Amino acid sequence: MGSAKTTYLYRGHIVSPVSKEGADCQSLQYDFIDLRDGLLAVEEGRIVAVQDASSLEGQILLGKVGSSAVLVDCSERLIMPGLVDMHLHLPQVTQTAKSGQHLLSWLNQYIFPAEARFAEDDHARKIARWFFKELAANGTTLAVVFTTIHETACRIAFEEAEAAGARVIMGKVMMDFHSPEALTEKTEESLAQSLALAQRWHGAADGLLQYAFTPRFGVTSTKELLRGCGELWNSLPGTYLHTHLSEAREEISTVSSMFPESRSYLDMYSRFGLTGKRSVFAHSIHLDDQDFAHVKESGSALAHCPSSNFFLKSGVFHYKRARECGCLFGLGSDVAAGPHMSLFEVMKDANFIQPDYWIEPRELFYRATLGGARALYMGEQVGSLEVGKEADFIVVDPRAKSGIVDNIMSHPTDEILSCLVFLGDDRLIDQTYVRGRLLFEKSK
Ligand code: GUN
Ligand code: ZN
Repeated sequence: MGSAKTTYLYRGHIVSPVSKEGADCQSLQYDFIDLRDGLLAVEEGRIVAVQDASSLEGQILLGKVGSSAVLVDCSERLIMPGLVDMHLHLPQVTQTAKSGQHLLSWLNQYIFPAEARFAEDDHARKIARWFFKELAANGTTLAVVFTTIHETACRIAFEEAEAAGARVIMGKVMMDFHSPEALTEKTEESLAQSLALAQRWHGAADGLLQYAFTPRFGVTSTKELLRGCGELWNSLPGTYLHTHLSEAREEISTVSSMFPESRSYLDMYSRFGLTGKRSVFAHSIHLDDQDFAHVKESGSALAHCPSSNFFLKSGVFHYKRARECGCLFGLGSDVAAGPHMSLFEVMKDANFIQPDYWIEPRELFYRATLGGARALYMGEQVGSLEVGKEADFIVVDPRAKSGIVDNIMSHPTDEILSCLVFLGDDRLIDQTYVRGRLLFEKSK
């Protein structure tokens, strides 16, 4: 006989996107579960019930409080799936909000010097520790993360992620061309170190940590690096490929002159075996119809980073086209080109950056949760609050932000979601849980 498990019952207003098996993005209606007095029951990190507190099942669960169940009062607050950030940079948190230029000059002025400092192990550890605290404080429970070229700094980042209890898909950046000296690797070393890190960390912390092969972008890659990277990625099933695609005009013209045989930037990646399930392409702004068709057919995912696109004036992602093509895509903060880590602010920017296309708050909520998880092929595991999934969730207090009316919790749920999208930021996050473990709690 095993010892009795403790059930944790979180009682509050549960809002979660509804998962529809086999539905593609086109036919999704962006529905959500809406339980005003809901109970989320968690055992050993897994969701075992999602019930209305007044239902018979809810009453049975509440009857166990004091014996096998512990009640966590989340009244006047929302219980939602944790937020999914499909693209951001750990080493860049020190450079947030330093702007004034387009991508390539911004990289040279602020980002490359900041990344070079990750050769110092103490610095790498200090910033990584801070980064994972910030992620949890922003309610992000799954993130796809760039580190730097440094093998040790990447190892340190994984160690800190594990200590923090974070769920991340992360990898060592690969750069062997057109880069400052301090950030230029030997191709073979870059490949060998990436392989060693993937073998050590992919699936670690009982699956919370996963590895992404991370060539920075076309500009800083030789053919040999991209080819070798494609071979490694394809030889290790379950690992990810994470890179930038088609962000700035100057970047695109450089890539087209470096790889003249390719029809497009995406076609270039595809020729090196870098498209397919579990590949994540940040930005993907200037894609054409053939590119979108390839994204859809190959099962690749796009990380739309509207705040960054505003900040660096890179252009406007074809949101409507991506949606109509049925492509897998979610949202990324792209810190530090995106100046805020809060996915609420990214949702707002996703709406604002479209000049003539309105995206409903409930759809943005889907993109920042289940949509992102599905794009990462993790939609069966996380992204919504459903029985059998891992308990990655946040407790959100909309009244923590000025500008949101005091009685907001009595408003229709679509209006609550609208307030979260247009006024929300990290101040709304009360608690963050990954696999049932409390990673962040706001000090009262
Ligand atoms: N393209 C290549 N590197 C980067 C980066 O660090 N940030 C952004 N936004 N785009 C990139
Ligand atoms: Zn980026």
